[in-house]
Amino acid sequence: MIKKLSIEDINAVAQAQMELVPDSYLSRLGQGFLSIYYHQVCRSSFSAGFVYVYNEKIAGYMTATEDSSRLLKDVFKHNFFELIMTFFIVLIRNPKVFLDGIKLIFFIVFDRQERANKIKAELNTFGVLPEYRSRDFFRETKIKISKELFEKCIEFLRKRGIGFVKVSTRSDNAAINNFYKKMGFEVKYTYRSPVIRYDGATFSYMNVLDINKYFTERAGRD
Ligand SMILES: CC(C)(COP(=O)(O)OP(=O)(O)OC[C@H]1O[C@@H](n2cnc3c(N)ncnc32)[C@H](O)[C@@H]1OP(=O)(O)O)[C@@H](O)C(=O)NCCC(=O)NCCS
Repeated sequence: MIKKLSIEDINAVAQAQMELVPDSYLSRLGQGFLSIYYHQVCRSSFSAGFVYVYNEKIAGYMTATEDSSRLLKDVFKHNFFELIMTFFIVLIRNPKVFLDGIKLIFFIVFDRQERANKIKAELNTFGVLPEYRSRDFFRETKIKISKELFEKCIEFLRKRGIGFVKVSTRSDNAAINNFYKKMGFEVKYTYRSPVIRYDGATFSYMNVLDINKYFTERAGRD
């Protein structure tokens, strides 16, 4: 069953995010930062997280926000002292991650493509534990955890009047790119973020979905 992310789920979700997406910048800031981040998602009036609970275990999670930069600002505004401590630990353990954070701020402020693209709503974190992924799990249970979490998130955004949502993915993550393509996302542009460790021909995609079109086409299919 799906339920809203609550305070008691945060440790399990932060740990899953560290294991499933270790290369994301949020994970590189450490589990302490992720916990602060998810606390803010729980408190935020314009963001939401959902978890799929199967046999009393968290099998997957997804978070969405109406405005990703406002959510990040709130993370800093409402958790200032905890963040100072967390960043101090990050700086001691891995100064590169700290410097990357500064590069990221410049990238966000000066990225023309991002500014031209007015979409603020974003799907931020997403993961399904390997044993609950669709191929085998769906065969046994007829449950598609990834799709259910996704629909809950975009339903949340649609109810709040949001027409478009974006999500950033790495080009070498075939599962996630196939998933979003199947859901109707279109790649708006490709880019290289200064904080992601790319190898070879890898880069990032900015994917965008027309939420109303998704529900209209789904209604037609059902
Ligand atoms: C992305 C993720 C949530 C997808 O979960 P899932 O249960 O496999 O999702 P689905 O079965 O709906 O997959 C959608 C499609 O992706 C494709 N796919 C799934 N696993 C794949 C793999 N390992 N390689 C290539 N394509 C894959 C298939 O085309 C599948 O469609 P199909 O069911 O018609 O075959 C899961 O793989 C995951 O948690 N990955 C790690 C976390 C992550 O990468 N998060 C995103 C960070 S941006």
